Amino acid sequence: MPRTTVRDLARMKAQGEKIPMITAYDYTSARLADAAKIPVVLVGDSLGMVVLGYDSTIPVTMEDMIHHTKAVARGTKEALLVADMPFMSYQIDAAQAMTNAGRLLQEGGAQSVKLEGGRRMAATIRSIVDCGIPVMGHIGLTPQSVHAFGGYRVQGKEIKEAESLILDAEAVQEAGAYALVLECVPAPLAELISRRLTIPTIGIGAGPGCDGQVQVLHDLLGLFTDFVPKHAKRYANLGQIIQEAFCQYAQEVRQGDFPTSKESFTMDPETLRELTVLQ
Ligand code: KIV
Repeated sequence: MPRTTVRDLARMKAQGEKIPMITAYDYTSARLADAAKIPVVLVGDSLGMVVLGYDSTIPVTMEDMIHHTKAVARGTKEALLVADMPFMSYQIDAAQAMTNAGRLLQEGGAQSVKLEGGRRMAATIRSIVDCGIPVMGHIGLTPQSVHAFGGYRVQGKEIKEAESLILDAEAVQEAGAYALVLECVPAPLAELISRRLTIPTIGIGAGPGCDGQVQVLHDLLGLFTDFVPKHAKRYANLGQIIQEAFCQYAQEVRQGDFPTSKESFTMDPETLRELTVLQ
């Protein structure tokens, strides 16, 4: 199958075909997502929390993003690869934003970038798009602004906030973005925005009315247990399975039950006898 393109996503929206998207941060998970025919893979800056152990996405750097994007790029052959622009890699000016978006494609191997913000980021989105780099927008609960929001909370419940989100969504589309992530937005508002926009919306905690859905791989697989967001659904409990496997492995090593001859390599006993250093 040829790689998914931004044009395929536009066609999927036009035909009412839902768009699945998942995060991946390394080669192995990228290969699995690709084999599962998930059309869009995101190297999210959520890697700061689920892979690097920070308590927010704020410490994530361009070097972190490029390092993980390279690994995911080696594992994806068919999925459209989107890389997040980390905090303060695009906010300073258009030149900084274009340079860093370019690095994620040139050095990381992504086909697109994602950045957070609505109207205030419209000019930046336009500059990047004008370089020939497809941009995915992201509004609602934008985690890089967690301190400005005063915590991780649903956005757009009040009339002013809801109106502001609609204007943000339209500005991102107008600026040339090809898709828009809506994070933690009430489902009816996300559905309304999805109907108003011509570009696909991808929801996370934004209800079934979005054109697609994105989930963090670790939430979906039950690998990240520090907290479980309300919007996450566990499709497997790999955390528990892995922990049980680790315990069994450690116990077998302690008891001398692992390795056995099956996991060991043999050599000619004659060679062993001839070892001169022992004579
Ligand atoms: O960083 C991330 O994983 C994201 C998704 C949650 C949309 O931005």
